[in-house]
Amino acid sequence: MAINILYHSVTGNTERIARAISEELSCSLVKAGEHQQPIEADVLFIGGACYATQQHDIHPDLDQAIRTLDPGKVGIAALFSTGFPKYSTALEQMRTRLQELGIPVYRDTFFCRGKFFLLNRKHPDKQDLQQARDYARNVVSTIGKN
Ligand SMILES: Cc1cc2nc3c(=O)[nH]c(=O)nc-3n(C[C@H](O)[C@H](O)[C@H](O)COP(=O)(O)O)c2cc1C
Repeated sequence: MAINILYHSVTGNTERIARAISEELSCSLVKAGEHQQPIEADVLFIGGACYATQQHDIHPDLDQAIRTLDPGKVGIAALFSTGFPKYSTALEQMRTRLQELGIPVYRDTFFCRGKFFLLNRKHPDKQDLQQARDYARNVVSTIGKN
């Protein structure tokens, strides 16, 4: 099963999750805006966060990378994000864009707190990173069984 990770991160929180998943699944990861080749995967993990500087939207590089995914080359997407649990809409935004493209989205997502100046300090922490690894393994084993 081909697994890949597409993510964007401004301050490093989402990148830490992406790297934990990449390590857990021994798969490669690409940062939105830095890839040249079309992304191809049976399971594509996609991670991002939202920013007031982008009208509370996900980063434009991630937006662009998602919009240019080829539905014929991605089996299913599994989403992860970091930030503020009650405020972040990144997961919903990514899901909506993917559904518009006709790319199936795995039902469960991963979210953890992400530090922002003095808030959410120490996150993602060790437990967050472990939960991200567990999430990734569960996604792959569930999809592998279907
Ligand atoms: C410049 C900036 C603006 C942000 N604006 C919002 C926002 O509008 N709403 C929100 O829920 N979180 C906001 N956040 C919090 C981020 O979504 C959160 O810190 C996230 O973990 C950042 O991920 P990253 O480190 O991968 O870039 C903002 C963070 C930054 C740095």
